[in-house]
Amino acid sequence: MTNSSALAIVLAAGKGTRMKSERPKVLHPLAGAPLLFHALLAAKAAGLDRLAVVVGPGMDDVAATAVNLDPELEVFVQEDQRGTADAVKAAREAVEAFSGQVLILYGDTPLLRAQTIGRVRAELEAGADLAVVGFETENPAGYGRLLLDERGRLVGIREEKDASEAERALKLCNSGIMGFRSGRTLLDLLGRIGNDNAKKEFYLTDAVALAHAERLEARMVAADEGEVLGVNSRAELAAAEAVMQARLRDAAMANGATLIAPETVFLSFDTEIGRDVVIEPHVVIGEGVSIEDGATIKSFCYMQFSRIGEGATVGPFARLRPGADLAKDAHVGNFVEIKKSEIGEGAKVNHLTYIGDTTVGARANVGAGTITCNYDGFAKHRTEIGAGAFIGSNSSLVAPVKIGEGAYIGSGSVISKDVAPDALAVSRSPQEERPGWAAKMRERHKRRPKDAGNKGT
Ligand code: UD1
Ligand code: CA
Repeated sequence: MTNSSALAIVLAAGKGTRMKSERPKVLHPLAGAPLLFHALLAAKAAGLDRLAVVVGPGMDDVAATAVNLDPELEVFVQEDQRGTADAVKAAREAVEAFSGQVLILYGDTPLLRAQTIGRVRAELEAGADLAVVGFETENPAGYGRLLLDERGRLVGIREEKDASEAERALKLCNSGIMGFRSGRTLLDLLGRIGNDNAKKEFYLTDAVALAHAERLEARMVAADEGEVLGVNSRAELAAAEAVMQARLRDAAMANGATLIAPETVFLSFDTEIGRDVVIEPHVVIGEGVSIEDGATIKSFCYMQFSRIGEGATVGPFARLRPGADLAKDAHVGNFVEIKKSEIGEGAKVNHLTYIGDTTVGARANVGAGTITCNYDGFAKHRTEIGAGAFIGSNSSLVAPVKIGEGAYIGSGSVISKDVAPDALAVSRSPQEERPGWAAKMRERHKRRPKDAGNKGT
């Protein structure tokens, strides 16, 4: 891969009407990140160090999302959508100031691999003035067709609407991804693209025939059809998700994780999974999760923005909400919800529990049905459970509250005051016992006439 500076212009001004959505198309999420992110991440991974995005008027959310990924990214607005060449022209300022390679990517083509961008860059480096990513498909309808001469050189691209019958039969298509040797090359060609075509649009694809007429060299880089899939509809979004999930699972397994039924495990673009991690069937891992070496995620868990430390165990049926941080060998069991809390090394929270805004010390044991009452309807408060503390089952810890190290909470307690280290705190009402009471009651009911006192409920 080349190290020289290069500019990516990501086109994203299209409205994406076929999504039937209030949300701009490129902000629909794929594996936890907006479509646009995927294109930008691939560009970054391919060493494109300068990024520009072209958006339509009023697409402020798109601009903000892009800048969020890279604060130095430049956003350009294309006022009217008059074609892909016109969209590139909107980013003219970025191109003019730039002498290196310029690559054009689409915001709605999220599966493009960095390696493929790298191959485009290598062709430009090797002397091509222009390079186009092409792909072969059995169903070329709607795509521009790549025109090759008898020597196999790329001489033009014909849009479907302008194509002859013979051209429509061609199966080699334009993915839309293109690279130009320099900003100068791109600007020279752009300046001469007209709109004398069926759609009266300025086609960037015309750059190829113009280049050929000037004896510039255009080359094709072949990619798999799956890699250049454009998302135009919800069905295509689902198809792209399936491809992305398959890639993420394969990568996790290649790095040494066991996925027992990979097709049932859903990952995010940024999921980090260590070695010897085991993920059982039916797990959903949202954004911002890292699972360290040797951890086990049992079936039916859902997690986001969490860390699962080395050797820790989660689930089955656990929910880790943002800020759940499980240290080494921690155990989080079934029907447990953890939010914004640190669970210390070897600590256990095994059954039917809510832990929020809490620090659980190392080796503490939180019994079944424990609830941290962290919210009073106005603000969130913290609970601190010291190392080695024992919280008896069905206790409520009313925050803010501290349970000292090694302290013991009797089952069923409502704890609203701090508990000293090694103390016992019990707050349940004392047990009362009336000997023989139950037997006497049964006797009384036997003597009453049938149905008296039982008029139904
Ligand atoms: C384009 C290509 C076609 C290729 C296909 C691959 C042209 C003329 N045609 O066709 O050869 O096979 O992509 O999917 O380039 N956009 C703007 N402003 C505009 C028009 C488009 O920003 O004025 C953006 C869109 O948001 C989208 C991309 O450019 O990200 C492609 O535009 P689209 O209208 O989908 O092009 P196609 O007709 O599919
Ligand atoms: Ca398209």
